[in-house]
Amino acid sequence: MQISKFATPEIIFGNQSISQIGESLSRLGARKVFLVSDPGVLDAGWAEQAIKHIKESNLDYHLWTHVTPNPKDYEVHAGAAEYRDHECNAIVGVGGGSAMDAAKAIALLGTNDGSILQYEGVDKIERPLPPMVMLPTTAGSGSEVSQFSIIVDSARKVKMAIISKSLIPDIAIIDPQTLMTKDGRLTANTGIDALTHAIESYISLAATPLTEVLSLSAMRIISQNLRPSVASQYNLEAKQAMAMASLQAGIAFSNAILGAVHAMSHQLGGLLDTPHGEVNAILLPYVLEYNYIAAPEKYRKMAEAMGENVAGLSLHDASRLMMKAVTNLTGDLQIPVTLSELGLQPEHIELLSRNAVQDVCMATNPRDMSAEDVKALFQKAM
Ligand SMILES: [Fe+2]
Repeated sequence: MQISKFATPEIIFGNQSISQIGESLSRLGARKVFLVSDPGVLDAGWAEQAIKHIKESNLDYHLWTHVTPNPKDYEVHAGAAEYRDHECNAIVGVGGGSAMDAAKAIALLGTNDGSILQYEGVDKIERPLPPMVMLPTTAGSGSEVSQFSIIVDSARKVKMAIISKSLIPDIAIIDPQTLMTKDGRLTANTGIDALTHAIESYISLAATPLTEVLSLSAMRIISQNLRPSVASQYNLEAKQAMAMASLQAGIAFSNAILGAVHAMSHQLGGLLDTPHGEVNAILLPYVLEYNYIAAPEKYRKMAEAMGENVAGLSLHDASRLMMKAVTNLTGDLQIPVTLSELGLQPEHIELLSRNAVQDVCMATNPRDMSAEDVKALFQKAM
């Protein structure tokens, strides 16, 4: 058996757990906290609540909210300059995947020199990062527990994956109540991102028994709770379940890495600034169909996890049911079904396909994929 590693932050989970943020930072030796959030989360009042609890622990803070969806390299550089100017010594991210990924990239540059572009790829970080506490306000990205930070290289218009155990936050605080201020569309998109994390980590070449159990559990919970969570902003029970599913899928993919859906969707996000979850939802059925022959037994287990009755079915038929369960879910949530709806033009496909095979997530896809294979999948999804 090969060596496998499994890493997670300390995890604090539950309603009102946002109140633990000051105490968590104090324990990590914070003196002045750089708080990264985004305008939407600020409007919803969550940054203000975090600040209240940070002040209760007699800590100083500086609030920074200049982050956009699919965070850009220049935003990270501006944030890192402010982090240094204000002499902060700890980082908090309060928001969705974009705010948390930006916070982690700023933390990276808090103790490491140069441009964020230098750190693309695996294990390029040399010095330890400042203490980090992350509090997600969406159920999807898993950034609060992952060793990933995804940042757009604005000159090349590609999403760079920066991967290192150093990027795993020290403490993740998951308060499901924060999910009650999200609209149906964001809930659906982020929920499908979590489902994609669960599926891709499960069939990943780097999956281990520890990650597989979390991936399957996340699929089970999402199949039962994403629809009601999208249906009502106030269904706290469904929000709690989705927060747990996103957490499990996040830990699974941080350790098992992902696959072709993410390798391909990173390219679209970089080029067109498209919503990550929507692109994943469109690509997922085509990639599942392509990958099926690599792991039919696993497809049967995923069908079961998604609530399908596979008793007596052949591996082929059970796998079909699994793929149908995915398209039924995305269909019920009325997510766009073609990449052209998101603005992709046929002339983009050549370059996107070449870049997708270079993405680090492609290395763990269970079936080999050439640029030509990727191109064919993009064309099908148009
Ligand atoms: Fe994702």
